[in-house]
Amino acid sequence: MAVTKGVCGSPKIARVLVAQGIQILGDSKLKNLKKMRDAKIGAEYVLLRSPALSEVESVVDYADISLNTELVIIKRLSDIALNRKKMHKIILMVEMGDLREGIMPEDLESFIQKVLELPGIDLVGIGANYACFGGVKPDEDKMKKLSSLAVQIEERFSLSLSFVSGGNSANHSWLMATESSGRINNLRLGEAILLGRETLSRKAIAGLYTDAFTFVSEVIESKIKPSVPYGEIAQNVLGIFPQFEERGNIRRAILGVGFQDALISGLTPKLDLDILGSSSDHTVLDAKKVNLLVGDEVAFFVNYGAMLSVMSSPNIFKKYIYTL
Ligand SMILES: Cc1ncc(COP(=O)(O)O)c(C=O)c1O
Repeated sequence: MAVTKGVCGSPKIARVLVAQGIQILGDSKLKNLKKMRDAKIGAEYVLLRSPALSEVESVVDYADISLNTELVIIKRLSDIALNRKKMHKIILMVEMGDLREGIMPEDLESFIQKVLELPGIDLVGIGANYACFGGVKPDEDKMKKLSSLAVQIEERFSLSLSFVSGGNSANHSWLMATESSGRINNLRLGEAILLGRETLSRKAIAGLYTDAFTFVSEVIESKIKPSVPYGEIAQNVLGIFPQFEERGNIRRAILGVGFQDALISGLTPKLDLDILGSSSDHTVLDAKKVNLLVGDEVAFFVNYGAMLSVMSSPNIFKKYIYTL
């Protein structure tokens, strides 16, 4: 399953993913699922997080499957699905230690018992999420436990789970190393596909590009100035007392983007420049030995957070070089 939230459900990117053989697209935002559906991208659509009670109607309309952990929400999904004369598919997320979403394993059987009584709901799988909140590794032991839970549920309720969804890009190393993936038959991959990295140590995945996305911004001021602010120092825009290294007089280049446009801490300049800081609409660079002038474009590698922020910012122009 390819995860499209990092690119704000971009239909152009979704189309490429589907053309390369991916049949399921997952996103955490209903707006993104709707956007891809409206663009007629032929895939099965998964809402990657538990729906809010206030949005279940749209979930039934725009997601074929949703990840769930709360009975009160699943009951409401069932009612709405029945009203719409359809079935809504769900994957139940199980807590495996990362401590974000998930039903405790010891509560899973009684939970499923109740889910199976709901006429508008089709239980199609179980899943888990690792290394997202608590940084917990999906190691062999954790994955075997998830696999055995799936087998236990299938035997106990005489059903067959179409999805045993083992995790995200943090599962890449486990998947490559394991001798048997057991009942795990699905991963939900965002960063591994989009930025070519596994996410436990952010190692590049062999054969994949890590620079498919580049953030480019234009210099709007370039002047030699001191490296340390002068005058009486109070809080800055972020409410902190900023500290700067004394570098003497430096070329300070300003870009016309700031933290309302991009997660600046997730940008790495492609040239030998330093990011000194940013306010909401400006980012200040130490141009070092690069003679950056007004009008020059500065290119950056993006990490996942920076990619997600710029792809979802209406202020940033997106240029696609390869499209279908
Ligand atoms: C439930 C869930 N699954 C999968 C993913 C994809 O994670 P990654 O981009 O690390 O593959 C995310 C986060 O984006 C998520 O919240």
